[in-house]
Amino acid sequence: MPNLVIRPYQPADRQPVFRIGADTAFFGAPIEAYMEDRNAFLDAFYAYYTDQEPEHTWVACADGEVVGFLAGCVDTRVHNRKLLRVIIPRLTGNLLRGKYHFGKRSLQYFGGQLGGLLRREFTHVDLDTFPAHLHINVESAWRGYKLGQRLMEAYLGQLRALGITGVYLDTTSLNEVACRLYEKMGFRLLDARPDRFWAKWFGHPVDNRCYGLKLLD
Ligand SMILES: CC(C)(COP(=O)(O)OP(=O)(O)OC[C@H]1O[C@@H](n2cnc3c(N)ncnc32)[C@H](O)[C@@H]1OP(=O)(O)O)[C@@H](O)C(=O)NCCC(=O)NCCS
Repeated sequence: MPNLVIRPYQPADRQPVFRIGADTAFFGAPIEAYMEDRNAFLDAFYAYYTDQEPEHTWVACADGEVVGFLAGCVDTRVHNRKLLRVIIPRLTGNLLRGKYHFGKRSLQYFGGQLGGLLRREFTHVDLDTFPAHLHINVESAWRGYKLGQRLMEAYLGQLRALGITGVYLDTTSLNEVACRLYEKMGFRLLDARPDRFWAKWFGHPVDNRCYGLKLLD
């Protein structure tokens, strides 16, 4: 039986966290299904958690190797401000220097996201009640070993100790195992909206979902 451990993120975990983040970004499978260049996604999506707020990220290790992570943020408004002031300017600089390669798949995806935004398909959350958020992913070979549950317990314990009032997360109806985990951890569905881009891709209805958990009464 492997030695399975949950521990706080350390700077040396950045590379495995990024690899797992990209390897699981397409509903648990590699992001290359819809984006040619994983670095653009990682710099846009995960660099905030590893570089700006690493103290709220947790990793799951099997025999010392990182095989899963939970990237947390205790104040989504701070995240959104840093996204605008730090992450997006850095991405723009990288883009102008030719660091990223965007092909047909990426352009279709960006078009789909823009369409979803205009059609108001993305879920809404009350950040006064649910200020914190999270992203969680476990490598495919290590799913079903309770690592997801243990990562959640570690982060929720940390949030409670900090006196955070609530936490939310965004997912979709396609992430069925993840939704079951969230419901088991006490999260309630706060908002759900049909997503036309993924529905067309998969040929059946897909919902964007927002789940929330109140931590203080
Ligand atoms: C979602 C995910 C993080 C769960 O982590 P995990 O380590 O596999 O889950 P655990 O072993 O801790 O299981 C916890 C609970 O999840 C649910 N679950 C786990 N595997 C399941 C499966 N194959 N089928 C149905 N439910 C499952 C169960 O409720 C389980 O609790 P139980 O066994 O007591 O019933 C992981 O499966 C994953 O990374 N999936 C792909 C990426 C993803 O969807 N991330 C979330 C994006 S929003």
